[in-house]
Amino acid sequence: MTTTVKIKDKLFELLVPAEEISAAVDAIASRINADYASKEPLFLCILNGSFMFAADLLRRIRVPCRVSFVKYASYAGTKSTQYIKNLVGLNEDVEAKDVIIVEDIVDTGLTMSHLLTELSEKKPATVRIAAFCFKKEAFQATFTIDYLGMEIPNAFVIGYGMDYEGYGRNLAEIYQISDNQYPTSNTSTC
Ligand code: PRP
Repeated sequence: MTTTVKIKDKLFELLVPAEEISAAVDAIASRINADYASKEPLFLCILNGSFMFAADLLRRIRVPCRVSFVKYASYAGTKSTQYIKNLVGLNEDVEAKDVIIVEDIVDTGLTMSHLLTELSEKKPATVRIAAFCFKKEAFQATFTIDYLGMEIPNAFVIGYGMDYEGYGRNLAEIYQISDNQYPTSNTSTC
C-alpha cells in the first residue's frame, strides 16, 4: 500500500486505508438495509465527490431503490461568504418519498444545507444523510448526519472521491495533506 502520494506540488500521507473504508461502508449499508426494509428509498448523490462512496454503498443495498444525482458549484470569497449554484438540479420527483442523501464529505456543511433547503420545498416524506467523512471542527451547520462513515481531522484530504485541483479522486484510500501545507478546506479545489 502506498503511504505517501504527490499530486502536483503537494504531498499527502495515508489517513484511511481501503480496508477501513470498506468496513465503514459495510456498516452503513447494513444499517440502511435494516432501516429501510419495508421502504423504497431514493438515493440522492452529490457530484462529483460522492461517486465512489455512492458506488460502493449502492452495491451493498438490498432494498428496492432509485438513484439520482445533483451537482453544485460553490464560489468562495471566504468560506463564510460562499454561495452555491446548481449545475445539475434536483429533477426527481421526491414528494412523499424517502430520500437518502449520499455525500463524500461534510466540511462546513454549506453544500448539504443548500440541498436540504431545496429538498424541503419539494415535500419528501423523510430525508436522511449518509456521509462518509465528517470534519467536526469545520462544521458550521446544524443538521445531523444519520449514517456516518468516520470523523476525520480538520485537514485537507484527497482520495475516495475527494480531489486536489481535480486529481486524486480515483485513489482507493483517503490521504491527508502533509503538515504545514495549505489548503485545509475540501470545497472547490478545481
Ligand atoms: C466538496 C464535497 C462536498 C462539499 C463539502 O465538494 O464533495 O460536496 O465539498 O464541503 P462543505 O460541507 O464545506 O460544503 P466540492 O464543492 O469541492 O465539489 P466536488 O464534489 O466536485 O469536489
